[in-house]
Amino acid sequence: MTIIATGLSAARSGRIILHTTDVEIRRGERIGLVGASGSGKSTLGHALIDSLRAQGASVAHVPQSPDEALDPLRSMAFHWREAEQALGLALDPSRKQKLFAALRIEDGDLRKRPWGWSRGMQQRFVIAMALIGTPDLLVMDEPTSALDPVVAAGMMDLLDRYLSDRRTALLLITHDLGLAAARVLRLMVMAEGRIVEDAPTPDLLRVPRTEAARSLCAHRNWLALPC
Ligand SMILES: Nc1ncnc2c1ncn2[C@@H]1O[C@H](COP(=O)(O)OP(=O)(O)OP(=O)(O)O)[C@@H](O)[C@H]1O
Ligand SMILES: [Mg+2]
Repeated sequence: MTIIATGLSAARSGRIILHTTDVEIRRGERIGLVGASGSGKSTLGHALIDSLRAQGASVAHVPQSPDEALDPLRSMAFHWREAEQALGLALDPSRKQKLFAALRIEDGDLRKRPWGWSRGMQQRFVIAMALIGTPDLLVMDEPTSALDPVVAAGMMDLLDRYLSDRRTALLLITHDLGLAAARVLRLMVMAEGRIVEDAPTPDLLRVPRTEAARSLCAHRNWLALPC
């Protein structure tokens, strides 16, 4: 199944911050959405989520920081139950076990509140919650910016492995071209509220066609970086 959203746009205070855009994502496809700060990546991410949910597609969202997804006053067990109930799913310990093992959080104490877990574990828990209902699309907006680079790369590797034989597609919004380059087959580059380039990752990195892509690719061999 291909996910299609057409006519996405957004304006704030009379200014267009997302020009009319169509996005097509194939089942299980992994895409990186990159671009300078303020280019409209998060705006596009939100518009895409709203449009797809309105069509009845299941779309999960992982915000930049686990603080946005977790209530500091509630236990981790509470969050998990809420997430299952919100999707109308019956409690299923084996689903939880599988996701916890995949994201290496099986040792986390669910009776604790978020601050009883490390940041890296919290973010992996948030990803596990997002994957509970096997969504059609997982949108992650700067999911690693609150993490140190080693923890961030480890988390992305676990997610990579988990998604490799599943139907869930991934839109990874990031500043970090190195992180995206190693993990997505397609890159979309944004500048000034438009997707200015959309190409297979190796092609875009080898021959960036727009100024925005060239400035992102400049000076480094991203595919050779160990991240
Ligand atoms: N609520 C808002 N009101 C006014 N302007 C906004 C609002 N939200 C976003 N913008 C503007 O829209 C543009 C795109 O913002 P957006 O947050 O989508 O960029 P981004 O690419 O995600 O940036 P970053 O990499 O810093 O997260 C920016 O110029 C921003 O200032
Ligand atoms: Mg953003």
